[in-house]
Amino acid sequence: MDVCVIGAGYVGLVTSACLAYFGNNVIAVDADERRLLSLKSGKSPFYEPGLDQFIGECSANGTLEFSSNLGDAVKRSEIIFIAVGTPAKSDGEPDLSQVVAAAKAIGAALDCEKRRIVVNKSTVPVGSGNWVEMLVSQGLQTVQTVPARSARSQGPSFVVVSNPEFLREGSAISDSLYPDRVVVGSGDEEAIARMRELYCPILEQNFVAPACVPRPDYICDAPFVVTDLASAEMIKYSANAFLGMKISFANEISGLCEKVGADILQVMHGIGLDKRIGSKFLSAGVGWGGSCFGKDINALIDVAREYNCQTALLESTMAVNKRQRLTVITKLQEELKIIKGRTIGLMGLSFKPNTDDLRDAPSLSIADKLLKMGAEVKAYDPVSMEICARLHPGLEIGYCSSLEDLASGCDGLVLVTEWEQFRHPDWKEIAVAMRRPLIIDGRNFLSEKSLIASGFVYRGVGR
Ligand SMILES: NC(=O)c1ccc[n+]([C@@H]2O[C@H](COP(=O)([O-])OP(=O)(O)OC[C@H]3O[C@@H](n4cnc5c(N)ncnc54)[C@H](O)[C@@H]3O)[C@@H](O)[C@H]2O)c1
Repeated sequence: MDVCVIGAGYVGLVTSACLAYFGNNVIAVDADERRLLSLKSGKSPFYEPGLDQFIGECSANGTLEFSSNLGDAVKRSEIIFIAVGTPAKSDGEPDLSQVVAAAKAIGAALDCEKRRIVVNKSTVPVGSGNWVEMLVSQGLQTVQTVPARSARSQGPSFVVVSNPEFLREGSAISDSLYPDRVVVGSGDEEAIARMRELYCPILEQNFVAPACVPRPDYICDAPFVVTDLASAEMIKYSANAFLGMKISFANEISGLCEKVGADILQVMHGIGLDKRIGSKFLSAGVGWGGSCFGKDINALIDVAREYNCQTALLESTMAVNKRQRLTVITKLQEELKIIKGRTIGLMGLSFKPNTDDLRDAPSLSIADKLLKMGAEVKAYDPVSMEICARLHPGLEIGYCSSLEDLASGCDGLVLVTEWEQFRHPDWKEIAVAMRRPLIIDGRNFLSEKSLIASGFVYRGVGR
């Protein structure tokens, strides 16, 4: 099929690569020339494991193209994905300006050659499907004065469907090739049938798995979930809210565990074995970050407010997460008493391992608070230090070349991101390099036993 994907970010680029891998002709469109330059030179503009290799494979087949020409890409495509960003504004509402621009530009480029399916993959508030349809139509009207209009007896034909994305950064290709489900929201049977065809290799898992992203043993198919437009949009928001709520639940219980002398790891293991609960997303720590959970939960609260609905659970989920980020600072205070003048080293900056994404990363809140309290803040992260320095020049962080460099002269280390390479370093050497061998494990990721054996004072979360 002929497909274009507008927005070559985490979602758009991975979607483009996967659809090209299945043999579709895909044009990935982005407005950011720097991003395109990087892509055309065969390099992903952001860190995502395996993506460079995967894109290389698809581009070599000649099925994946990169372009800044949205109009041309729309004209050449039957299926047009919108995968632009919907970041949160300062008041928590989603900023939909990228969606507006993309939808209007699609409308302006449509012709009568074929019926198009406009697929909304960006996470947008409930009701946005109809709104995108209106925006595309508005885009159409801007070109009605063009002489070629007379050739369109009926005018261009299109339908908008919702196809929310559930991939996780760090395992984005695997999540896209082997998803738990594919959700399509639409009342148009023809569009649903074409979407099913497009996703057939994923639904039936009948493609040869790429060497760089092997198929997990337990995957044999993926459910195709067809809903109405509003329900598809609601599924995306509710899924993120539920996942965020699980983490906040674990964090709330972790505070109580510390008071009563219980261990959150044992407690969550014990409750996670209950199949009704499940063991995932029950990790206590410095809380979630990233571009989705906070933004989407706030957007859901916002929609609820419009309808006068109470959202006490969602609001608490957000409040617990905000509070949780700073519990590592309370622990530093308990151990060091005075923070002013101390040197604190942050292990990890990205909001989770295997990505360089810093959007809403707990590390930023922690660094900001420590700096305000008069500490010197150092950090080491395997991939996101350069981005952090570029995007947050106001945060006066000292960037280090290794874990050993980070530890040197520190009064305390805080593990913020659970990068695998932080698991088994030479702790004895690190303890010797520090002014005081103290470690706050903000993800309950490290071995308390080996740290204590190496001379550290160890503090986890909820233990
Ligand atoms: N990142 C994730 O893990 C994730 C997961 C699921 C869903 N989502 C949702 O998917 C959407 C995209 O997220 P993302 O993280 O990929 O965003 P992103 O910010 O990484 O990428 C968006 C891209 O769109 C481009 N763009 C914006 N307007 C454009 C236009 N008019 N024409 C061409 N290109 C344009 C930008 O230059 C940018 O490269 C968001 O709504 C997000 O909430 C993200």
